[in-house]
Amino acid sequence: MAGLSLKGTLQDEQLTVIEKGGVVVENGEIVAIADYRSLLQKYPDSEIAFIDTPMVLLPGFIDCHTHICYDGTRNRDYAMRIAGKSYLEIARAGGGIWDSVTKTRIADPVTLTENTVARANRHLKEGVTTIEVKSGYGLNMEGELKMLRAIQQAGLHTRATLVSTCLAAHMKPRDYAGTEDEYLQWVLTELLPVLQQEQLSNRVDIFIEETAFSVAAATRFLQGAGRQGFAATVHADQFSAGGAAVAVETGALSADHLEASTEKEIALLANSDTVAVVLPGASLGLGMHYAPARKLLNAGASVAIASDWNPGSAPMGDLLIQAAVMSAAEKLSTAEVLAALTVRAAPALQLKDAGQLVAGYAADMQAYPTGDYRDILYYQGKMKPAMVWKKGEPVL
Ligand code: NIG
Ligand code: FE
Repeated sequence: MAGLSLKGTLQDEQLTVIEKGGVVVENGEIVAIADYRSLLQKYPDSEIAFIDTPMVLLPGFIDCHTHICYDGTRNRDYAMRIAGKSYLEIARAGGGIWDSVTKTRIADPVTLTENTVARANRHLKEGVTTIEVKSGYGLNMEGELKMLRAIQQAGLHTRATLVSTCLAAHMKPRDYAGTEDEYLQWVLTELLPVLQQEQLSNRVDIFIEETAFSVAAATRFLQGAGRQGFAATVHADQFSAGGAAVAVETGALSADHLEASTEKEIALLANSDTVAVVLPGASLGLGMHYAPARKLLNAGASVAIASDWNPGSAPMGDLLIQAAVMSAAEKLSTAEVLAALTVRAAPALQLKDAGQLVAGYAADMQAYPTGDYRDILYYQGKMKPAMVWKKGEPVL
């Protein structure tokens, strides 16, 4: 994944493949990567671990969009959805985001931390070494702080790197009496300063949608959060277009979802530094079409793929299966998919030392039990890494 362009189409021939390769690791960092014979000559005193069966070594995956801190299930929503019920019918029957808010608000903090650690460790075993985790099932001071503290605690109990994001702007809580603007103002003036004091997060997210927050209110919110020093990402264009333009205009790091993006949003994203994050797990969970990843790449956008792992729309949480299944439908090359899970996901989280196997980067790596990297998508995500390293230490 070294030296790949961050934007636009990629052919497999553009991948750098080192045959009979080796990696020199010191203090958790990659020092050199080349064919192993030349490394043996150059680093004769290194401690050596030979792997003598064919393996494909990749950077650890970066999942730049998840909601893995939650309690309870939404299997009732799912059953209603596959029985043909609409979003509104499910919400009226007590489902939707608010159901997870209710369950997460009453969960004790230790349970939330344990749930998050368990999901992060499952990801880690499947080669995902860096994971973004959002709040957004608290939606009041106590609930959001409980979630973000649980995410911070979870980060101390898993080898995966967790990057937390405040999604207090997931929806206006049903028990908040004021307007959407007043709620977002409360987030800016009351909640965000506490996050800064406790160093719980320096990122915000907002769900822009007819059922969540409007374009105008979200624009004001993102500008305000930016002035307070928060980086931003946006749930954009999931069911209706509008959010991606706000993400680009306000300089958000990423615009995520994009299932409803039109040519206009595709062009805006392609001409910006905002990463277009597509979430095939949400399309699978909701039974809807994929985001136009092929068109985004053809237009020149930077496309990352993330799991959106959450109890409602994306309960599966298997990033590689989701990416592989989407690639078959959207006609994404192996190079485009692997870049979308590594080097192109890193800027969405402002990571400077992850997503590539190059000197100076963290030795976050995974090895697949095959001699041909094309097998990874061919088996549609069922081939899992046989070995995973976080900062040079084996976790498998
Ligand atoms: O990314 N789109 C909004 N939020 C989540 C869903 C979360 C939920 O349903 O609990 C998403 O798909
Ligand atoms: Fe999401």
